[in-house]
Amino acid sequence: MTGLPPLPSVQGLGDGMLAALASMPDPAGAEFTNGLEHDLADVFSTEHAVAVSSGTMALHAALSAIGVGPGDEVLVPALTVVMTAAPVVLLGATPVFVDSDPATLDLDFADAAAKVTARTRAIIPVHLWGRMGDPASLLAFAAEHGIAVVEDAAQAAGTSRAGAMAGTVGTAGCFSLKDGKILWSGEGGFVLTDDDQLAAHTRAFRSHWLTPPPGSRPQEQIALNGRLAEPLAALAHANLCRFPVLLDHRRAQTAYLIRALGDARGLTPLLPATDETWNHYAPLFHIGLPNPRAFAEHLAQQEVPNSTGTFRLVPCDTRPMFTGADQKPCRGAAQILDRTLALVLTERDDEAALDHYAAVVTREAAAWCT
Ligand SMILES: Cc1ncc(COP(=O)(O)O)c(C=O)c1O
Repeated sequence: MTGLPPLPSVQGLGDGMLAALASMPDPAGAEFTNGLEHDLADVFSTEHAVAVSSGTMALHAALSAIGVGPGDEVLVPALTVVMTAAPVVLLGATPVFVDSDPATLDLDFADAAAKVTARTRAIIPVHLWGRMGDPASLLAFAAEHGIAVVEDAAQAAGTSRAGAMAGTVGTAGCFSLKDGKILWSGEGGFVLTDDDQLAAHTRAFRSHWLTPPPGSRPQEQIALNGRLAEPLAALAHANLCRFPVLLDHRRAQTAYLIRALGDARGLTPLLPATDETWNHYAPLFHIGLPNPRAFAEHLAQQEVPNSTGTFRLVPCDTRPMFTGADQKPCRGAAQILDRTLALVLTERDDEAALDHYAAVVTREAAAWCT
């Protein structure tokens, strides 16, 4: 079996953090945040990158910037984590859950179209597990209905499809820098956009509306502290410098595990679309075994971390805070989540760790008859 490239070096990773610490306290300081934003915009070829404290804050700020507020509806895939929907609710709007197509994992655009109303303001495509839906279908849908696209690209740094990078297709792209992501700083996030006003609004929103966007006065609007701490900006910047290496490493890890599980009973890899360059965020398999969710939970008990078994990922429309809504359940999303094994990798998983996962999964799949 082909080996992995060496573990990405952590040499010098903390140097910027130490420099940031040495300059603290500096209430006005944003040297490392400014540097990070400059280079993020460069790497992703966007006009602006705005660093914030989390992926959730990135979505919150971007949705606020496009004017989402009380009375509005926002189309959100049920195939997502609760953090995609929470900012919609916190802005006083209503998430309307849209189904996904089990054959492609992409949004079910017929279901989305049926759920558009005069109040629909935006759609949030979520590139879960780093998989990206078809950008042309998304943009055509948004244009037809006159709504904005705010991408949840939290897991999708490094994915592109039909030449478009995840997070650069819509009006704004929102990323998380939480550890476990390919590009990380422990906690953090950022918004990418080409829209000057959206960037200015996001900057104001992350810092109590102290420096308002053009046309607004300081503190005219309630906002939050969503700044990225300077030491974390320095760490994010150091990781951005090794992003190509981190990406290659995750791709190699995922490809290694998919190969290692080639003969595992009942597991079929979920391959990306032919025009997709996937970041390989998580090895993905269709589980063709009886009671597939229980199998994923069983693997979690055997210390093989995975989305549904370990993190109890369920369709967002079935979460207790949303079940009161008068909406039919999103069955495609439920089917995808029940039948997908999405293994959770970290940068440190070496060949021995991946071989161990492969051995446990192969053994348990062979024995599974529940
Ligand atoms: C798809 C998705 N959206 C949003 C978020 C929220 O990001 P954060 O945890 O940085 O707030 C995450 C984080 O795990 C995520 O995976």
